[in-house]
Amino acid sequence: MKTRITEMFGIEHPIIQGGMHYVGFAELAAAVSNAGGLGIITGLTQKTAPDLANEIARCRDLTDKPFGVNLTFLPTLNPPDYPAYVKAIVDGGVKIVETAGRNPEPHLPALKDAGIKVIHKCTSVRHSLKAQAIGCDAVSVDGFECGGHPGEDDIPNMILLPRAADELEIPFVSSGGMADARSLVASLAMGADGMNMGTRFIATAEAPVHENVKQAIVAASELDTRLVMRPLRNTERVLNNAAVERLLEKEAARGKDLTFEDIIEEVAGVYPRIMLDGDMDAGAWSCGMVAGLIHDIPTCKELIDRIMAEADALIRDRLESLRAGTAAAA
Ligand SMILES: Cc1cc2nc3c(=O)[nH]c(=O)nc-3n(C[C@H](O)[C@H](O)[C@H](O)COP(=O)(O)O)c2cc1C
Repeated sequence: MKTRITEMFGIEHPIIQGGMHYVGFAELAAAVSNAGGLGIITGLTQKTAPDLANEIARCRDLTDKPFGVNLTFLPTLNPPDYPAYVKAIVDGGVKIVETAGRNPEPHLPALKDAGIKVIHKCTSVRHSLKAQAIGCDAVSVDGFECGGHPGEDDIPNMILLPRAADELEIPFVSSGGMADARSLVASLAMGADGMNMGTRFIATAEAPVHENVKQAIVAASELDTRLVMRPLRNTERVLNNAAVERLLEKEAARGKDLTFEDIIEEVAGVYPRIMLDGDMDAGAWSCGMVAGLIHDIPTCKELIDRIMAEADALIRDRLESLRAGTAAAA
């Protein structure tokens, strides 16, 4: 399939694996890219810029296909050394960067000067337009369904994607709640040029996370996520567990007075314990409602091939026969 996104990134299929803390290591990024999608290494999971340089080199050993790096600009008073991370990306010859979080504008000149294509992930039409105005090449439009940070507007993709299509000139991919061929075909119908998946890619053979994490996603239904940290305006969609229930009790008890310190035990530094050690109640971890659509743990190639084959069948058989009026009555 050819879209503006496959052309822009030089990939075969319009499917991107979004950056994911303690999931987006070289193994997963390379597996997605080798399967014809766009794999993305999560920059800040690497503790230092030299660590990121090593991870990029490792990924290059595992694939000769294009892959990207995610740079998440955190709302923190003590930011990581972003210029050093950008330099590691540029020096590593990476040509695609997925930015997320705060406005990436301060770092765009360094990225653009190196010929890097920037896709900014955002959760609203106004932020998408801002990304377009400051020179991003594409956006990843992240609906309310998404795992991770859906923002504070709570607009699901059935509305957000057509709204983005009406306003944007640069290409965009759908993100949040995407799992299969139906997600892809619907996204294309709503004006997107591809789709970004997070949670779905965690439940794959190559995702270098503990088996307990994959099983938790397969076992979860669409009812099992919760929104945390809304009082801090840093809303995150996470899988419910004992730590999340404790966190929500604290939020209810503290109300508007909630501070980050109140919930530090449930959110700070928990990712390695969950993703690497499989301690599933260690804290709050991002997971999308799309868990309800995930029932297996295929390889990335099996997953992407299945999506593309089923998308083809959906368009050719179901949609075309509906259009022609030849669909068999169900
Ligand atoms: C475990 C996990 C960790 C994530 N970490 C990040 C991150 O560090 N930076 C980022 O930009 N997005 C992060 N995301 C968001 C994903 O890149 C993607 O936008 C989101 O998962 C899409 O929604 P979906 O899970 O419904 O597919 C994370 C998502 C998950 C599930």
